[in-house]
Amino acid sequence: MQTPVAVPDGLAGPADLPGPYEPRSIVVLGSTGSVGSQALDVIEREPGRFRVAGLVAGGGRPDLLARQVERFRPEVVAVADERAVRAVREAVGGVPVLAGAEGVAEVAAWPCDIVMNGITGAVGLTSTLAALAAGRVLALANKESLIIGGPLVKRAAGPGRILPVDSEHSALAQCLWAAGPDGYDPGAVRRLVVTASGGPFRGRTRAELKDVTPEQALKHPTWDMGTVITINSATLVNKGLEVIEANLLFDIPFDRITVVVHPQSVVHSMVEFVDGSTIAQASPPDMRLPISLTLGWPARVPGAARPVDWTAAHTWTFEPLDDEAFPAVALARHVGALGGTAPAVYNAANEVCLEAFLAGRLPFLGIVDTIEAVVGEHSVSGSVESVEEVFEADAWARARARELTGA
Ligand SMILES: NC(=O)c1ccc[n+]([C@@H]2O[C@H](COP(=O)([O-])OP(=O)(O)OC[C@H]3O[C@@H](n4cnc5c(N)ncnc54)[C@H](OP(=O)(O)O)[C@@H]3O)[C@@H](O)[C@H]2O)c1
Repeated sequence: MQTPVAVPDGLAGPADLPGPYEPRSIVVLGSTGSVGSQALDVIEREPGRFRVAGLVAGGGRPDLLARQVERFRPEVVAVADERAVRAVREAVGGVPVLAGAEGVAEVAAWPCDIVMNGITGAVGLTSTLAALAAGRVLALANKESLIIGGPLVKRAAGPGRILPVDSEHSALAQCLWAAGPDGYDPGAVRRLVVTASGGPFRGRTRAELKDVTPEQALKHPTWDMGTVITINSATLVNKGLEVIEANLLFDIPFDRITVVVHPQSVVHSMVEFVDGSTIAQASPPDMRLPISLTLGWPARVPGAARPVDWTAAHTWTFEPLDDEAFPAVALARHVGALGGTAPAVYNAANEVCLEAFLAGRLPFLGIVDTIEAVVGEHSVSGSVESVEEVFEADAWARARARELTGA
C-alpha cells in the first residue's frame, strides 16, 4: 500500500501550509462555476483568514468574472477563451488578465498557499499538474484530472498534498482522521462506503430510462451543480468517477470500495473499520462545507454550512445500487482496474456523449452504452508515463465517440 495523497500524515496538514488560522492566499480556478463561486463565498466570509491571489475562468461568463475581480482584487486573472479576454480586460482595469491555456497554467502555478481547481472536465489536468509542479497544495474539485492523470498526478502530488473537495471524498478523509489518535491507519480500514443520491432516475428500470430527456436529467433531487456533473449524476458516471477517485486518493483497492444509494444526500460517505465499526460524516447537502475544509485544512471554518437539525425527525435510507439500470459504476471499476489510459478513455467518451445527449443526438442510455463501446475498442497502455499519452488517449476516445454519436 502506498501513502495516500489525500490524507495528511497526522493532523497538522501539509508542513508548508500556513497554520489553519494564519492568513492563506488562494487561487481559484473555475471561479465562475458552481464550486468556484461557492469557494469565493467561503473566502469572503473569512477575510482575515483567506485572500484571493488569482482567478481563472473559461470565458463563458465575462461579466460575472469581472464582478468577482472587482470584489476580490486578485493579483492576476486568466481566461481560457481568448475571445473573451478583451471584454474582461476592459472591465477590470489594473489587474493583469492572461489569456488562453498558457495563461490558465501560469495562474495555476501562481505563488499562493492553496490552488482550488474547480474547472470542469479533462481540460483541468494541465492546471492540476501545473499547481502540483509549482509545489502548491491542491484543493481538488476537478476529479477528472486525477482520474485521467492517475499515477502522473499522484507522483506530482506526494503524500497529503491533495485536499478532496468532492463531498464524498471529504467525508471519507474526515472518517479516516477519526480512525485513531494518530490519524489515518490504513491497516484499520476494511471498506470505504461511497454514498450516491441515485440521481433523478433512482428506482427506474433500464426500460424506463429509454426516453428520459435532458430537462429531466438536469433536475437533480438534492444538489445544485454545474451541467456536466448534474448529467453525470443522472447516469451515475459521476459515481463511477468517484470510485476511481477514492481508489487513487486513499489507495484502497476497488473490491473494498462499495457504493450505496442514499437518496437524502446527508451521509456523504462512510468508512467501515476492521473491528466492525462504521464512521459516517453527515451534513445537509452544501458544497461550502467540503470546500471550506480544504481552505482551512485541517481546521474547520465556523458557519461554513448549516448543520443537520437534530430537533426534527429524519429518515435516512440506504439501498444497493441497481447495476443493471446504471452500469456506469461497474464499468468505471473495470477501467479503474485496467488503469493506464483506460480511465482517460472512459472520461473523454463520456464528455462527448454527454454533449450529444444534451444536443438531442443521443438517447440517455446511449451515453454509457457508447462509453462501453469506446472503452472496449481501446488498446490500453498499461502505465501512463506522460501527459501527452493521456491527451492522446483522450483525443482518440473523443474522435471515436463522435463517430459513434454521429457528431
Ligand atoms: N458543482 C458541484 O457541486 C460539484 C461537486 C463536487 C465536485 N464537483 C466537480 O468540480 C468541478 C467543477 O464543477 P462545477 O459544477 O463547478 O462546474 P461549472 O459550474 O460548469 O464550472 C466550471 C468552471 O470552469 C471554467 N472553465 C471551463 N472551461 C475552462 C478552461 N478551459 N479553462 C479554465 N476554466 C474553464 C468555467 O468558466 P466559464 O464560467 O467561463 O465557462 C467555470 O468557471 C467538476 O470537476 C465537478 O465534477 C462539482
